[in-house]
Amino acid sequence: MSAAGGRAASAPLVGREAEPTIFELSRPGRRSYQLPTSGFEELGPDELVPPEHQRSEPVALAEVSERDLVGHFTRLSHRQYSVDLGAYPLGSCTMKYNPKVCDAVAALSGLSDVHPAAPAELAQGWLATLTELERALCELAGMAAATLQPAAGAAGELTGLLLMRAYDEARGERRQRVIIPDSAHGTNPASVTLGGYEVTTVQSDERGCVDVGALRQVLDDDVAGMMLTNPNTLGLFEEDIVEIADAVHEVGGLMYYDGANLNAILGVVRPGDMGFDIVHLNLHKTFATPHGGGGPGAGPVAVAGHLADFLPGPRAVRLESAGPDDPPRYGWATPARSIGRVHGWHGNALVLARALAYIEVHGRDGLLRVAERAVLNANWLRRRLAGTLAVPFDRPCMHEVVFSAAPVHKRTGASAHDVAKGLIDEGFHPPTVAFPLIVDDALMVEPTETESYETLVALAEAIERVVARAERHELADAPTTTPVRRVDEARAARMLIPTFDARR
Ligand SMILES: Cc1ncc(COP(=O)(O)O)c(C=O)c1O
Repeated sequence: MSAAGGRAASAPLVGREAEPTIFELSRPGRRSYQLPTSGFEELGPDELVPPEHQRSEPVALAEVSERDLVGHFTRLSHRQYSVDLGAYPLGSCTMKYNPKVCDAVAALSGLSDVHPAAPAELAQGWLATLTELERALCELAGMAAATLQPAAGAAGELTGLLLMRAYDEARGERRQRVIIPDSAHGTNPASVTLGGYEVTTVQSDERGCVDVGALRQVLDDDVAGMMLTNPNTLGLFEEDIVEIADAVHEVGGLMYYDGANLNAILGVVRPGDMGFDIVHLNLHKTFATPHGGGGPGAGPVAVAGHLADFLPGPRAVRLESAGPDDPPRYGWATPARSIGRVHGWHGNALVLARALAYIEVHGRDGLLRVAERAVLNANWLRRRLAGTLAVPFDRPCMHEVVFSAAPVHKRTGASAHDVAKGLIDEGFHPPTVAFPLIVDDALMVEPTETESYETLVALAEAIERVVARAERHELADAPTTTPVRRVDEARAARMLIPTFDARR
């Protein structure tokens, strides 16, 4: 089953500038495992697997020893930046340190060794975990019930829009439009379109918040709802949120809360109290679970009572106990008018377990401190860097702050993009650039609560040094210290080569 063919034989194992692929390290017959005897060794392939289900050619797997395998992935990991390595101030995406205790909980064999198809009576611990997480999320969001199935924030958004649609249809309506602010994250308009609605954009005012006058002008009985994140993507709290929610409700629309920024208000104010009807929670942001490479995250959707009947199912529920002294029992139940499944199983379960561990470890006071420190850290950076970069909306921010490199760009020719590349040379992951779209040369910094004062100072000093490099016109080649230097990002995005042909 040699996979890598002639290429493998000629590739040196170590010492190359560029790390070979695992297939280039492959050598015929090398293994990193030993299988125990199965007792079926006597049987031929046709007796084990019906001929129509057999492969016509061997699967192309790399053949490597454990030593080479571990070396390969360790070398690759040393070329990466990660939340375990240092500050990751990527605004809006909320990349914060994931506490190891949550990994330890998710690794408990009572959780990790259970198949999702296990009958409810054999998975009572899991069902209790899911029920408890749903309860905690509803309490934090001020909602009545939730689905834990959506696999990311964007998947939660689509779920929320399908709920909006189901609610509309149940009351005999077919509304066409969903309103989003011009500062919204790109997934919002994409989800609206996928959900079968048209996007109506409403402008922000000079404070960086929804212009309530402009909103009222686009509201009518064709509006199914409004999607909003609060604090918004400028890191600013929408102070008129109650007036906004009332105006949308007056025309019969629903309020959708994009929970990507919930970490700023945890334990302080709840979306339900602000007038929202549907809330998604990015567990991988707020509750510090791994994001993965585009997943596995988790984007549970919590709803107010009038929408609970439409939630995806099945949901883990607590059943009536047989008697007062009997232990609690759990089962699965699908809401009466459910929109159906939005995940093959019950959601990204081990991420869900980590989130519950995070909530339990912090407790109510701890979660409040998470929000307070995230806001304090962002405001400290806002004040510290105000002389280095422009601050387009210079008022107290929430958990993230949006700077503009536009003046630096004008003076030196170095854009926000160049500043971000320079920061890589300083040993930091760059902040988000070019978003929100309504800020020129945006640099969106979210320090999160996990970074210490010393790290914040180091990050600020690094940004100051990078801007000084820009003044000396030294940023065009940045980053200069990474294994891969500056890439042509447009070409890289348009000419994706996402597969490696091991047989070449
Ligand atoms: C404001 C906002 N909404 C939605 C999303 C989408 O969330 P996810 O990445 O979990 O799909 C993001 C992601 O960064 C976001 O920042």
